[in-house]
Amino acid sequence: MKIREIAPGEAPPMALLLLADPSEKAVASYLDTAECFIAETDDGIVGTYIAGGISGEAAEIFNIAVAEDVQGQGIGRAMLMDAIERYASKGYLWMYIGTGNSSIGQLALYQKCGFRIDGIIRDFFTDNYEGKIVENGIWCRDMIRLVKTLQCDIETGG
Ligand code: ACO
Repeated sequence: MKIREIAPGEAPPMALLLLADPSEKAVASYLDTAECFIAETDDGIVGTYIAGGISGEAAEIFNIAVAEDVQGQGIGRAMLMDAIERYASKGYLWMYIGTGNSSIGQLALYQKCGFRIDGIIRDFFTDNYEGKIVENGIWCRDMIRLVKTLQCDIETGG
């Protein structure tokens, strides 16, 4: 599997991006300013992520998605590690990611990859998304923000 930035003029994999974020408007807004990467095998595109700087010191993964038929095989973890290494080597100090309070598997994966909970944006999903989102039987209302230290000497255990 290879992870690469999409080429100029190459269409971003919208169907995959909408798996992670049902708001086309939100996807279009961060696609406009951030970078889109794809994970591909000989069979085609299996995953994607969008990331970019949010300040001089911090970057964020805005969207990460793996094709449904190949989820749970390590592709999401590989893309997270790719983003971490890529933005650390660009000199960023922190990598942020946000997900819903109901996204139990995603919260597990991000913490296994070294992210720590940094804050909660209460009512983010009820305020910004149409319709009630329910996942794992839980009403998705709040965004959990997580952060990972990219430069290990800043904080032990980062
Ligand atoms: N409890 C504990 N661990 C869990 C749980 C759980 N309930 N659910 C998943 N995990 C762990 C697995 O054990 C595994 O850990 P391991 O690497 O130690 O074995 C890990 O989470 C899953 O890792 P991958 O196989 O790499 O994950 P995958 O390739 O399926 O990608 C992703 C994860 C991107 C979340 C994928 O499932 C997906 O596309 N889901 C739909 C879209 C989505 O929700 N995207 C994220 C939204 S938030 C955002 O975009 C910023």
